[in-house]
Amino acid sequence: MKILVAGGAGYIGSITTERLIKAGADVVVFDNLYQGHRDAVHPQAGFVQGDLADKTAVESAIATHKPDGVMHFASYTLVGESMTQPFLYLRDNVMNGLNLMEAAVKHGVKGFILSSTANLFDDPERIPIAETERIVPGSPYGESKHILERNLHWMDRLYSMKYACLRYFNACGASAERGEDHDPETHLIPLVLDVALGQREKIAIFGDDYDTPDGSCVRDYIHVIDLAEAHILAMQALLDGGESRKYNLGNGRGFSVKEVIQTAREVTGHPIPAEAGPRRPGDPDILIASSETINQELGWRPQFPELRQIIETAWNWHQANPNGYEK
Ligand code: UFG
Repeated sequence: MKILVAGGAGYIGSITTERLIKAGADVVVFDNLYQGHRDAVHPQAGFVQGDLADKTAVESAIATHKPDGVMHFASYTLVGESMTQPFLYLRDNVMNGLNLMEAAVKHGVKGFILSSTANLFDDPERIPIAETERIVPGSPYGESKHILERNLHWMDRLYSMKYACLRYFNACGASAERGEDHDPETHLIPLVLDVALGQREKIAIFGDDYDTPDGSCVRDYIHVIDLAEAHILAMQALLDGGESRKYNLGNGRGFSVKEVIQTAREVTGHPIPAEAGPRRPGDPDILIASSETINQELGWRPQFPELRQIIETAWNWHQANPNGYEK
């Protein structure tokens, strides 16, 4: 299969590109390198530096490379930032996604995969969270993904372009060659590992008075390679003539912020000082996915379900690349 990966220089996109190439796919990455890194792009992937806001550039990339499928990872992704800069999300994420969809339908792309999010479920009625859970976006970020999911519904109905929306919970971990390098970094696991590397003094626990066993927030940490494999399975299903689908993607197990820090202490051998501070606005107590549907329909199951394995892979990458992709 030939796949265009929009955002293939970013964290999840670059590791999915790596796994696609390993699976024998022909891949071209389209990325503006605003948040991504050129060095994260697998050397066997084609590369087009371009911006999804530039309709001509997007269309030219799709017309030139004629992919069977498109995977769309390129977007603004921070819940907190979206509360203070909503237009980056409600306008740019939506417009950029639509530019990619329009070019895809115009050139007969058969399968489209959207990186969606657990932030669709701000106020879940049931844990673990299934696809039948009511959608309550928790921020302009979650809302932008909800709008893109709805747009894809119309792309299928009007143009028969099949799609899969993959709602990630907390992506983490690394492959041997690629890992998480955001600027600024806001995610728990890389921040904790920065402390172990001596690049930060301590980690702040955002709230220890939540309604959880140890008082800190519980999240579902899913290894990025498991996420990548889900994309490949979903794309194969679409290209084999399958129907459009939506999957919640997580490990199915919850770990608290304190458990993450404790496991990182064990993995790194560093004391990792931690200090409980105020809550971060918008954080729900517990988010855990049910990934039963993708397990039953595509046979997907996580290969890295243990928090220890997840943190070990991230730690190996962080130790080998203490400055991320900046050599
Ligand atoms: N946390 C801390 N201290 C820190 C950083 C984070 O205690 O310094 C806590 C957060 O409060 C949260 C947990 O660690 O309880 C995980 O936080 P992250 O920032 O790593 O991840 P989020 O759960 O906020 O966000 C992730 C993705 C989003 C996605 C969301 C869906 O990054 O894109 O999951 O729930 F929308």
